[in-house]
Amino acid sequence: MPKQNVNRVALIGAGSVGSSYAFAMLNQAVAEEFVIIDLNENKAMGDAMDLNHGKVFAPNPTKTWYGTYEDCRDADIVCICAGANQKPGETRLDLVKKNLVIFKSIVDDVMANGFDGIFLVATNPVDVLTYATWKFSGLPKERVIGSGTILDSGRFRYLLGEYFDVSPSSVHASIIGEHGDTELPVWSHATIGGVPVLELIERHDNYTKEDLDEIFVNVRDAAYQIIEKKGATYYGIAMGLTRITKAILNNENSIMTVSAYLNGEYNVDDVYIGVPAVLNRTGIRNVVEINLNEEEQEKLNHSATVLKDILSEQFDVKQTN
Ligand SMILES: NC(=O)c1ccc[n+]([C@@H]2O[C@H](COP(=O)([O-])OP(=O)(O)OC[C@H]3O[C@@H](n4cnc5c(N)ncnc54)[C@H](O)[C@@H]3O)[C@@H](O)[C@H]2O)c1
Repeated sequence: MPKQNVNRVALIGAGSVGSSYAFAMLNQAVAEEFVIIDLNENKAMGDAMDLNHGKVFAPNPTKTWYGTYEDCRDADIVCICAGANQKPGETRLDLVKKNLVIFKSIVDDVMANGFDGIFLVATNPVDVLTYATWKFSGLPKERVIGSGTILDSGRFRYLLGEYFDVSPSSVHASIIGEHGDTELPVWSHATIGGVPVLELIERHDNYTKEDLDEIFVNVRDAAYQIIEKKGATYYGIAMGLTRITKAILNNENSIMTVSAYLNGEYNVDDVYIGVPAVLNRTGIRNVVEINLNEEEQEKLNHSATVLKDILSEQFDVKQTN
């Protein structure tokens, strides 16, 4: 890990997601240093200027500048938001080929400058590109993390909170699997105030399983709905990325659903996929294994198979599950 007494985060890709992440990071004063890198140098430069003008209004001033890959050498975290985004009607997996090429060059440039920290990947398809970042970088699996289903779990908790009229922070529920069409809700362990959600719908006539199913569909398809309305999604993911960054830099040991490498956990092997994991200064301390029911396990297996089929077109992936 780099030896320095201030936390530095390097952002690569200052598009809608990246610059929203920068904005959230500065407003929450998560790191002492924040460097912005983009192929479009003017965009990185403009963002750095704009953000610096608001510094005086933030809880603590973050040293912010537009930079180069050399600045990654002393970074604790490199967050990659660069690449093509989803066009209307395009699935996240359609983006694979375009973004793999971009990632090879970015990760090579970061590593060539002596980076020895933690990669945080947001670009889609995030599970595939996190695996690619792990392969391209040669870093230990714990130090390569994808945003995975953090946003999906956030959407899920928000919608459940609205439905049951409680704060989303009091809803404990996860979406796991691919950040995409094959993701799944873990209903068997979704609780509110310690009460299982599936028990709540039995106890009260005004709550139904059909409504819960609709909530999940709205979670799964949220990106499509937002893209149709405004072209892209960025605030929610930016806040999620900021939360992950904070958990790492503050050595929190907090649990979030991120894209983590599975090496036998959940009976799945050699894939990055959204699961709950403990995050701290070492990256992913460990994956949390929820005791899934049969249906959930089957869905997770399916999700992992879909990801592995895509990965195997590009990498030598173990085919064990
Ligand atoms: N993980 C999630 O939950 C989540 C949510 C929303 C969006 N995303 C993904 O985030 C990614 C970015 O989305 P966006 O809306 O910000 O896109 P965008 O087009 O607004 O921004 C992409 C940025 O990447 C830069 N870029 C492209 N190639 C580069 C390279 N080789 N080196 C450096 N910079 C480069 C571009 O100049 C641009 O500024 C997309 O893949 C999108 O699907 C992920």
